[in-house]
Amino acid sequence: MKGIIFTEFLTMVEQAHGLDMVDTIIEKSDLPSKGAYTTVGTYHHTEIVALVTNLGEETSTDLDTLLYTFGVYLFSSLAKAHPEFVDITTEPLDFLEQVETYIHVEVRKLYPEADLPTFRCSRPDARNQLHMLYISNKHMEDVCEGLIVGCMQHFGADHTIKREQTDEGELFIITCNE
Ligand code: HEM
Repeated sequence: MKGIIFTEFLTMVEQAHGLDMVDTIIEKSDLPSKGAYTTVGTYHHTEIVALVTNLGEETSTDLDTLLYTFGVYLFSSLAKAHPEFVDITTEPLDFLEQVETYIHVEVRKLYPEADLPTFRCSRPDARNQLHMLYISNKHMEDVCEGLIVGCMQHFGADHTIKREQTDEGELFIITCNE
């Protein structure tokens, strides 16, 4: 997993709980990297699991909530780091459709070792509703929901999200309220 995910996560923890908390969870997690992340480095994704788990213990917060909150935060970080991707459209559902076909394609060129999820998008019922099927062996469904919400907030879109588990992956049904 790319270092940008780790550096953003630790920045979020520092902003919310202070630097001592960052040190505590790094120590408790007993990480191969020792927590010395660079944005361009690549680290084993179990390190993020350990960090999130220990933050959950330290703050008595359940993991789903932590992962979701991190996803919301991560969207604004990624958007700041790569404004060229978010400037491609003003329509949030068009943007989400292009995560698979454009954004993550470009991300793979920038970070060749990136291990990205697969999305299958369709609009079977209405133009203002997107079906987004998330497929990943990392099972970061809650981070994914947070990223979608972060995206909708970024575009200022009033919306609802429904989640359904399917055999292939997690289906997110995102409706923009007009
Ligand atoms: C500016 C926009 C975006 C950029 C630059 C970006 C970039 C990235 C990068 C660098 C990673 C890490 C890959 C790795 O660690 O190997 C990643 C992972 C991920 N991205 Fe994006 N992304 C963007 C938007 C989105 C959005 C809107 C979603 C959700 C719909 C999304 C879903 C995910 C998920 C769920 C992962 C975790 C890996 C997995 O589940 O397998 N991304 N992205």
